[in-house]
Amino acid sequence: MDGIYEYILDDLNLSGKLILDAAVGAAGATYHWAKKISQQGGNSKIIAVDNDFSGGWKEKIKKRLGEYSAFVELKEADIFDLSFLEDESIDIINCDDTIVFLNPVPLKLITAFKGFSRVLKENGLLIITSELPVSLEDDKENEGQWRRWQLAKAVYDLKGDTWSVEPRPEEVKSSLELLGFDIYDEKVFPARKIDDYQTTLEEWRGVMLRDIEGLDWINLKPALAEEIDSVCRKINNNGFMICPPTYVLKCTKGVERT
Ligand SMILES: C[S@@+](CC[C@H](N)C(=O)[O-])C[C@H]1O[C@@H](n2cnc3c(N)ncnc32)[C@H](O)[C@@H]1O
Repeated sequence: MDGIYEYILDDLNLSGKLILDAAVGAAGATYHWAKKISQQGGNSKIIAVDNDFSGGWKEKIKKRLGEYSAFVELKEADIFDLSFLEDESIDIINCDDTIVFLNPVPLKLITAFKGFSRVLKENGLLIITSELPVSLEDDKENEGQWRRWQLAKAVYDLKGDTWSVEPRPEEVKSSLELLGFDIYDEKVFPARKIDDYQTTLEEWRGVMLRDIEGLDWINLKPALAEEIDSVCRKINNNGFMICPPTYVLKCTKGVERT
């Protein structure tokens, strides 16, 4: 992503550090962290957790990391249960594009932050990267993506599943400050237009149509299926999809307020 990893990594000393990557996902961010470790002497280690490595993801991640894989230990673990880590044992936590998944109900995210605070050393760093919730008012160009997102959430709810509550930066910052983190720098990276969106869009359409077919809401099904197609037409007419703005919060662990 344009400039984001430079912003995150340029002023970091990654020599002799134990780093927690929460969560590793497809290792997009992990790759940049591990490369920087290599450039700074190769004497740091990343413990990269995820609660889902199904589908051969451990192998895919190792392939993506290539030579930098040597600095990364992949560990299947739940971010809400970091009991395998000692108190104050971690120098830096990188939480990239994951907090949205840690908030299935309001305030749940705070539990994850509390766990981060426990395992971080005093003055340890927590770097959070997250997308801003897509908004329709701010930019009409977002309409296709906004509709896509709202439909996905609605269908998820109609299935009886729990969709995450998207945390806004204001609330994330208040929660962090309450737990004693000091936010020493932050930056918003603007939305980007993605031109090679077709595969993603087709995958999304397939998943949505399958989910709608399985709904018990008989009378809603045709209308929802038509809306899915109309969103695809809208995005195809635009010729791009919007990747929302991303914000980065750089924090140090301070003292929790009592
Ligand atoms: C968008 S991905 C992260 C992207 C990644 N940081 C990268 O750079 O490519 C989000 C990941 O969070 C994982 N995840 C969600 N909830 C989790 C939890 N409670 N514990 C551990 N991993 C979780 C998901 O399995 C998914 O792989």
